[in-house]
Formats: sequence, C-alpha cells, structure tokens
Amino acid sequence: MTKPSSSETSRPVLRFLTCGSVDDGKSTLIGRLLYEQGLIFDDHMTALQSDSRKHGTTGEDIDFALLLDGLEAEREQGITIDVAYRYFATPRRHFIVADAPGHEQYTRNMATGASNSDLAVILVDASKGLMPQTRRHAMIASLLGIRYVVLAINKIDLVDFRQNVFDRVVAEFTAFAAAFGFKDIRPIPLAARFGDNVLSPSSRTPWYGGPPLMAYLETVEIDDDRAAQPFRMPVQWVNRPSADFRGFAGTVAAGAVAPGDPVVVLPSGQTSRIKDVLGPQGTVERAGAGAAVTVTLASEIDIARGDMLAAPDHRPPVADQFAAHLVWMSSEPLLPGRSYLMKINHVTMTASVTELKHRIDVENLDKLAAKTLAMNEIGVANLSLARPIPFDAYADNRTTGAFILIDRYSNETVAAGMIDFALRRATNIHYQPITVTKAERSRLMTHKPVVLWFTGLSGAGKSTIANLVEASLHARGVHTTLLDGDNIRHGLNKDLGFTAGERVENIRRIGEVAKLMTEAGLVVLCSFISPFRAERRMVRELLPEGEFIEVFVDADLDACIARDPKGLYRRALAGEIKNFTGVDQPYERPENAELTLDTAHDSAATLADQVVAELIRRRVF
Ligand code: ADX
Repeated sequence: MTKPSSSETSRPVLRFLTCGSVDDGKSTLIGRLLYEQGLIFDDHMTALQSDSRKHGTTGEDIDFALLLDGLEAEREQGITIDVAYRYFATPRRHFIVADAPGHEQYTRNMATGASNSDLAVILVDASKGLMPQTRRHAMIASLLGIRYVVLAINKIDLVDFRQNVFDRVVAEFTAFAAAFGFKDIRPIPLAARFGDNVLSPSSRTPWYGGPPLMAYLETVEIDDDRAAQPFRMPVQWVNRPSADFRGFAGTVAAGAVAPGDPVVVLPSGQTSRIKDVLGPQGTVERAGAGAAVTVTLASEIDIARGDMLAAPDHRPPVADQFAAHLVWMSSEPLLPGRSYLMKINHVTMTASVTELKHRIDVENLDKLAAKTLAMNEIGVANLSLARPIPFDAYADNRTTGAFILIDRYSNETVAAGMIDFALRRATNIHYQPITVTKAERSRLMTHKPVVLWFTGLSGAGKSTIANLVEASLHARGVHTTLLDGDNIRHGLNKDLGFTAGERVENIRRIGEVAKLMTEAGLVVLCSFISPFRAERRMVRELLPEGEFIEVFVDADLDACIARDPKGLYRRALAGEIKNFTGVDQPYERPENAELTLDTAHDSAATLADQVVAELIRRRVF
C-alpha cells in the first residue's frame, strides 16, 4: 500500500505571489520575511529544480517540479521571465514566493507568477490607498484562479497606526473584489520597514486582533478542490520504450486515478480501463491531483500527446470554439482574425480570435467596446481553433482550462487565456456532405485549381500584371477569376478600412472566398497588398499543399511613390491618408514566395509571361 500523494493531505508547500503597486514596500516585506528570520534563501531555485525534476522525487519535490513545468513551458516560447521565485522554509511549512516586479510588462510577470500560486499577498500603501495597479493585480489574481488573498496594508506607520485608515482600505477592497470569487481575504496592517505584524504581533496596532503575516502564511489551509473533481489527465507524452509497453504520461489535473478505473479518451471518445498507475517509484494504487504519473490501459487505443484521459461519467466538453478571458501581454496589439498558435494541454495548434466581445476596465470592471487589446489589457473574446479539443472551464480547473497564445513569427507569448465556456454553435453546426466533390468539378476543367496570390506595395503593378495573366490564361481556355483589392472593397469588404486589424479581416475573407473558388475548380488570381506575412501564410494554410502560389510583385517604394497612379502616396505623405502601406504602416516582404517579379527591370507583359510560364512548369494546365 502506497502512501497517499502529498496533494491529498494538507499541502506542505504554500506557493504565493506578492504584488501591488510600485513602492508599496514589496521588496522590504520579502526582505523581512526571507532574510531577517535567517530563513533559507535560494536565488538559484530554477537550477536546483531542474535537477530534481529529472526523475523520481519525494512528494514535496513534485510541487517544485510543477513550478518548473510552468517556467519551462514559458521558456520554450522564448519569453523572458521576470519573476523571481524564492524558496524558504520554517519549521511549519515550505514556501515558494513568486515576486512579480511591477514594471511595464507587469501583467506578463504577474500572470506567470499567479498561475502557479495558491495565494496572493497584495500590498497597499496605507497612506495612498488602493491604486489602479492594486485593482488590476487583484483582478488578474482572480482570473488566474487564486482564491486566497492577504491584503497587506503596509506603511501603517505613515498614518500613525490609525485603525480607521485600515478599515477604509479594507472596505474599499472588499467591495471592489466582491465579484472575484476569493474564498478568503485576510487584511493585515503592516509596517514592513519596522517589522510590525510581519513576524510577531505589533504593540502599535492594539486594535488588530489577527495573526501576524508569517503566522497566517504558516497556517492558512488552502483547500484543494481538485481532489473532489472528476478525473482528468492531459497526456503529455506517450511512453513507448518497447513493443509491449505503452504508457501515457502526464500530471493528474483533477480527481484521482487507480487501476481498474474506467476511462474515456478525448477527443476520440474511445473507452477502456486503467491497468496500472506508475509513479516515480513504481506502481501505485492511486494517484491524486498534482501527481505526475504514467498510466497503462487494458486495451489498445490510439492516444496522442494532448489527448485527455477522463472519467467516462463526467466527460470534459470537446469543442473548437469557445469564449475566454484574455490577458494581453504583448506590445503588439491583438488582431482579431489573425492566426496565432494556441498552446493548451500540451498541444499547439492554430487559433484565432473570431470576436472580441469587450475589454474590461480594471478601475470599475465596466465592459468597454473594443476592437483590439493592447499590452496589459484584459478582455473577453470568442476563439476558434484548428480542431476540437477537450478542455474544462478555467473556473473548474486551472490546468485544463488555461492556454497561452503565441505569435507565429516572433514566437513571443502574446496572451494568457482562461476558458469560460464552449460556444454551442461549434457543436451544432456540422459539415453537410456534398455529392459533387472538388476533384470531380476539377475533372471537367482542363487544368488544376490554384490561387495565384499577388502581393506588393500599392502601385507596384499587381493589378496590371494579374490582369495580363488572366487574359493570357483565358485565351488558353483556363477557367479563371480575378479578385482585386479595390474592387472587393466596394462590395464584400466595403465595411473594412485600413487599420492593421481591418487588413487582417480583409485577407481572411478573401482567403475564404479564394478557397471556395478553387473548390469550384477555378484558377483564382488575387491582387491585394496583403502587407502582413501572418495573413498570407494563413491563406496558404487554408489550401492544400501546392495550391497557393505567392507572387511577390517587387517594386521599390520610391518607384511606387514616383509613379503614384492614384495620387494616394502624395496624400498619404501629406498626412491626409492614415495607415498607408509603406508610409506609416509596414509592408512585410515575402520570405519564400514561389515567384518574385522584378518590376524595376522587366515590363508588365514580360512579368505576366513569367507567371504563365511558372504555371506551365507546375503543370497547372
Ligand atoms: S490590403 O492591405 O488589405 O491587402 P487592399 O489590397 O485590399 O489592401 O487594398 C489596397 C488598395 O486600397 C490600394 O491599392 C489603394 O488603392 C487603396 N487604399 C486606400 N487607402 C489605403 C491605405 N491606407 N493603404 C493602402 N492602400 C489604400
């Protein structure tokens, strides 16, 4: 009989986060906590943990490994972590403190620290009261699932240890945080600089009857409701050392697992039974939430990384669209419609924000209309994924309901996401089978369907060349159609302007239209500035391999300005037109276009011939 895992008994480690506005005394407080009492102080936790993480460790270390997991997941994405994790212990408890510095990118640091913490110590300067940062941090802590808060009202000496000041801050914070679902808000008056109520009760706050901060942190009971929930385990990797062993490794995200338990694998829906549960030291009879295990199943089922093992009578929803809270962390704003990478439950896939519902004003929690989210902003959005995934609402499970969004080019983590619920439309709309297929339509043609995507600056000659190419193809009996920026913007896309966000949507729609037209069997010529790599790639990925031919109409900006066929550059340079490509908005040159046309040396007719020749070379017709 094995001992129950640490997470099923009271937690030996308290992971907490310190946050608050700059100058509220965070460093002083941590200094007090760690240093003055002569506590173990280790700035090199990360290195230390990396070793303990490698293999089989004690119950306590599993918690550390979890912390490291979070860190490493972020590191894979190349984000700089500006959170210092410090480890210390008293005879009663071990602590891991995530110290999130409050500089410009604080939401990123805060989110990184908060997602691993059970409790937040939110500092407030008693002489200043609640600051915007205090409210924001309380909100992020709540969003990231922290349920225990210490409201550390610091610098109480500056207000002469007056109880009424303390009471006022407490009342204000409690009212503000009412909707946040905190299980416990523990206000403590502190003068961290002098040590009042940090380690021992202060004689200068006789009106305060509660414990000093340290005593509270040592004794607070964090009830881990994951244990009582139905079993969940996202598969982190499939362990197949030999033909006769196939284990599925991961961390139990909720509930518990034991040999003989029935289990369902999602999204496939196949069912089986647990054969063995293996912990670091070998077979165990049961593993609870937080335990890292490998399980084997009684029957052969196809399971891949990112699949979820779950209790068959309480299955997690499976969907490819859902509503979620987003904490935006990048200096590049959110662009609805753009495809990002979503990393959730050990898988990475493309996803996009289909609709930004609103932004949240952190001052008063109002819902504000918004087209984008800038750095540090929080919003609610609908997202659409490349394929359905199993998940839980973040409110139910901080592991299986959390994701991050990554920029596909810079590899930067741009947002932390918390799933609210699946969108029903995703489950109620199915593909209608169509009898005549794309291949059959194509067979009536004398050619293959392709998209010829002309990209380049305004005035580069895209439309002129596309026109000549179409005429030439038409003469050869090729069925074509031509989609052109200026024309489409008079009809389908007349609601769109030229902000980065609107250009993303412009290309997204064009991409879908072009795809439909290839399904009709046509050669589709598209002539759009399409200044962003991400959207050109998105259209490329909408189509089967080889059906997207990117034609870069390469022209010097100065040459385009000199030609200025529509007089738009002149107006843009005079400041009359905003967001003009090449003037005050970037054009991202293609990195691997199938064809680059050199407009400086060849005539439009010659270049059009080059495109037709390329189609012949590719055996399109
Ligand atoms: S895209 O960037 O979204 O792909 P699109 O090709 O549809 O642009 O439209 C570009 C055409 O709109 C240009 O050829 C030009 O005639 C016109 N136009 C008007 N305002 C702008 C602007 N701010 N930037 C670029 N083109 C503009």
